Amino acid sequence: MEIHLIMPLSYDAVLDEMVATAREAGALTLEHFKRFRDLEIGIKGPADFVSDADRESELLIRDRLMGRWPDWSFYGEEFPPTERGDAEHRWLVDPIDGTTNFINGQHYTISIALRRGNQTVAGALYNPVSDEMFTAIPGQGAFMNGERLRVSQQADVALFAIGTGLPTPNLQLYPGAYQRLDAIRAPIGAIRIVGSAANSAAYVAMGRLTGYFEETGFSDTAVGILCVQEAGGVVTDWWGRGPEIYEQTGTLIIANAATHAYLLEHLKDVPRKNPK
Ligand code: IPD
Repeated sequence: MEIHLIMPLSYDAVLDEMVATAREAGALTLEHFKRFRDLEIGIKGPADFVSDADRESELLIRDRLMGRWPDWSFYGEEFPPTERGDAEHRWLVDPIDGTTNFINGQHYTISIALRRGNQTVAGALYNPVSDEMFTAIPGQGAFMNGERLRVSQQADVALFAIGTGLPTPNLQLYPGAYQRLDAIRAPIGAIRIVGSAANSAAYVAMGRLTGYFEETGFSDTAVGILCVQEAGGVVTDWWGRGPEIYEQTGTLIIANAATHAYLLEHLKDVPRKNPK
C-alpha cells in the first residue's frame, strides 16, 4: 500500500521574503504619504490619493510574492483575486490598512498573511511610519523588529486601554458603534482609536492596548490575530466563538484574558452589523 505523508513546511524563508516585500511596499507608500498636505490644495481628491498608493502597494506585493511562488493564489483588497494551482496556499493582503489615517498623515500598516487551508501559517505586518515590523509563525512566537511580544498582564479594569474603530460617514453600515463606547466606557482606563485594525491588534500583542474590538474585515486582521495568539492573548467573536465564525463576520474581540472577559460581558447585547 502506498502511504502519502503531508510534510509540514517550514515557513521561515517565506517569512523573510514577506518581510522584505512589506518593507518595499512601505517605502513606496511612504512616498505618497509624505505628500498628504497636497490634499489641501486639491491636486487630487482623498479617494484618488489613497487609492493610487493602495493599488501600487498591492501590485508590488502581488508581483513580488507571485513571482517567487507562482502556484499560490493571491487575495488583496484592491483587485480581483488571482487564483492559482496550489489548492492550499493563498496570500491574504491589505496593502494599506488605515486609509483614513493615511489621508490625514497618520499611522497605517501593510498586512501580508500566508494562509494554508484555514490557517494563517506566516504573517508580516508593517507600520512604515514608526518602522515597526510585526511577524509571527504559529508555534514560534510573535515579534516586533525581532523582539518577542507578550500581551499585557493588566487585570485591573481601571487600567484597561481598549482600542476600537469608529465609523463616521457610513454609520448605517456599522450600527451601534457609539452605543458600544457607552457600554464599555466605565470604569475602564481608556478607549483609543488607532485607526488601523491591523495596527490595533499589533498593539494588543505588544501591550500598548490591553484589548481591541470591532466589526471589521478579516484581511485587515489575519496577521494581527496570529500575533496576539502567539503573544498569549485571546481571540474570539463577541460571544466567545472561534475562527469559523469571526473570520466570516469580523465581529472580533482581541485581548488579554482579563480584558477579553470584560468585553464579552459588555458587548453581547449592543447592536452590530452582523447577526449573532
Ligand atoms: C479600516 C481600518 C480602520 C477600521 C476599519 C477598517 P481600511 O480598514 O482598519 O481602522 O476601523 O474597520 O475597515 O479601510 O483602512 O483598509
